[in-house]
Amino acid sequence: MAGNDVVIEAFTEMAPRYVETVDRELRQFLGLGYEEFVERLIEVASVNEGDVVLDVATGTALIPLKLVDKLGARGRVVGLDITPAMLKHGRKNVEATGSSSRISLVCASAMAMPFIEGVFDVVICGLGMHHMDVPKVLAEMRRALKEGGHLVMACVGAPSIWRSFLASALIWMAAILYKLTHRSARAQAEVAAVPNIRTAGEWRTILSDFGFTEIEVAAKFPPRCFWYPGALTLRATKSVS
Ligand SMILES: C[S@@+](CC[C@H](N)C(=O)[O-])C[C@H]1O[C@@H](n2cnc3c(N)ncnc32)[C@H](O)[C@@H]1O
Repeated sequence: MAGNDVVIEAFTEMAPRYVETVDRELRQFLGLGYEEFVERLIEVASVNEGDVVLDVATGTALIPLKLVDKLGARGRVVGLDITPAMLKHGRKNVEATGSSSRISLVCASAMAMPFIEGVFDVVICGLGMHHMDVPKVLAEMRRALKEGGHLVMACVGAPSIWRSFLASALIWMAAILYKLTHRSARAQAEVAAVPNIRTAGEWRTILSDFGFTEIEVAAKFPPRCFWYPGALTLRATKSVS
């Protein structure tokens, strides 16, 4: 995992063209665009009217904007992100759609969220986990959820072939070469994120270790080539104690 400074620098550089960049990369790796990706993640969330939802690593707030109309007049979304420049674009998008009364954006680290325990019906996160300390964020997500609430994520997923000795050696060589030849903060952040890319089985294990139940992991976004990373959707429940 990269330090927060590198991640913030990477997303500050990327913020003005974030939507175009992520759309191009999703088409290259998964064969679908950014809006469709978010819409399919929101289907997995299957929120209810009146839910209060937290979107972790909200970026430019596309997830809150696509989600808010499904929550009815009483529903609310809070988007949290560590990079002020991403949130600046998010705020413009929220204001442009007249959603400011139902979407709030908060600048903070997901590893130390400024929320009291048990306030959210759903915690969602799209493509953010690989940049963070996953155990710390899962503990915070669980704390922020109400009992019986749902955690829903789309995470970059490692194909199981990545765990063979040969493939892991090749991935590490490629990552080191990439880091040496690309000096941008984005490149440093992406290379640092490689150890955080988990297989479906590894996600099941860590979610269970953190006390989540009813865990569903699906290869909803398979990669276009078998050695590329795909994206997994994960849905789990904070069980009632
Ligand atoms: C690839 S973007 C995903 C944005 C958004 N979820 C989406 O689907 O477009 C990753 C986001 O994670 C945020 N991020 C990285 N580390 C974070 C942390 N520790 N706490 C909160 N946000 C973080 C970055 O600032 C960036 O906006």
